[in-house]
Amino acid sequence: MSILVTGGAGYIGSHTCLELLRKGYDVVVVDNLSNSSKESLERVKKLANKDLTFYEFNVEDKEKLTEVFEKENIESVIHFAGLKAVGESVQKPLAYYYNNLVSTLVLCEVMSKFQVKKLVFSSSATVYGNPHTVPIKEDFPLSVTNPYGRTKLMQEEMLRDLVVADSEWKIILLRYFNPIGADESGMIGEDPLGIPNNLVPYITQVAVGKLKELQVFGDDYDTPDGSGVRDYIHVTDLAIGHVKSIEKLEQIEGVKTYNLGTGKGYSVLEMVTAFSEVCKKTIPYVVKARRPGDIATCYADPKLAKEELGFTAVRELKKMCEDAYRWQCNYPNGYRD
Ligand code: NAD
Ligand code: WQD
Repeated sequence: MSILVTGGAGYIGSHTCLELLRKGYDVVVVDNLSNSSKESLERVKKLANKDLTFYEFNVEDKEKLTEVFEKENIESVIHFAGLKAVGESVQKPLAYYYNNLVSTLVLCEVMSKFQVKKLVFSSSATVYGNPHTVPIKEDFPLSVTNPYGRTKLMQEEMLRDLVVADSEWKIILLRYFNPIGADESGMIGEDPLGIPNNLVPYITQVAVGKLKELQVFGDDYDTPDGSGVRDYIHVTDLAIGHVKSIEKLEQIEGVKTYNLGTGKGYSVLEMVTAFSEVCKKTIPYVVKARRPGDIATCYADPKLAKEELGFTAVRELKKMCEDAYRWQCNYPNGYRD
């Protein structure tokens, strides 16, 4: 029996494939490589010393997905495939609604047809909007401020409706906080195209001299040093959270929702300091205006995942910085090197 991983060539998907293979699972990946490279999977296979099966197509393609379910013995699915850039989603809302919603609809239809009804879904802390307080618990009110976030919330709602209609489904919604870092081998990692939108790839590119300086978006938030505070989680911990979720699926009824975070918040300026120490160089930065849509503080209450999934993120900030930096130094141009 195999785990189908949609979007498995991407950043979180490739690290999750690696942890699944390390745990002895058979893995089948479907990815259209719209934001990734096949090379990530080649390296995953090498690191795990185990093969996986890769199909290159769009999850919206019902015929091709049906063929995969006919051919492979799929037991459960982890659904990462989706577009994820917040700013781009404001510019291209239809592309985001189409890609993220249609892929999930098609996937669930095909799964239903083959009586495969166990699913782990990539959601995001973005569904909490601007929380009234922190740490954020799973039962906090949900709201979103951009089309990307709305696709996540809509997908969550679709999946919640699905289990109401058919109680055979077992679904785990994982709300990730801020995944960073890379496998400690330095062989796989985050590979953004063009200028990174997210803080950590931006910092590592400054650290290796690809970018001149970091722009700190706002130092006037109501936080200890005025810069934004986030819950950064090592991507390997996050990947292990998916393995735990796969193990848990059999025991649950209906839908379960878990935060995957550390429960600790670090500010942008603390991240700059942490990276400077690891890279042993100054990270130049300038303070700019707040980025529209950003919130001051966001960190998880990770208790539920600990109690029910047996999941705790163990990799500390220093390790996250070291691993992110190693990947950046080894492959300054990502998989294009
Ligand atoms: P990523 O872009 O690296 O990975 C997504 C993968 O899905 C890519 O390989 C892309 O080629 C593929 N893909 C996209 N649409 C597809 C489609 N229709 N058919 C087949 N393949 C398709 O992103 P990631 O950071 O690994 O994120 C994975 C998931 O986690 C996404 O759903 C994202 O929204 C969610 N998420 C990410 C973060 C984050 O900060 N990285 C935070 C919360 C949630
Ligand atoms: C972190 C902090 C910025 C870049 C995003 C998505 C969220 C989720 C994770 C998918 C903030 C500051 C950033 C820069 C900066 N993705 N910053 N200079 O915004 O918390 O979350 O990724 O689901 O939906 O919104 O992450 O890394 O962009 O920003 O000062 O060049 O760093 O203002 O305080 P964010 P981020």
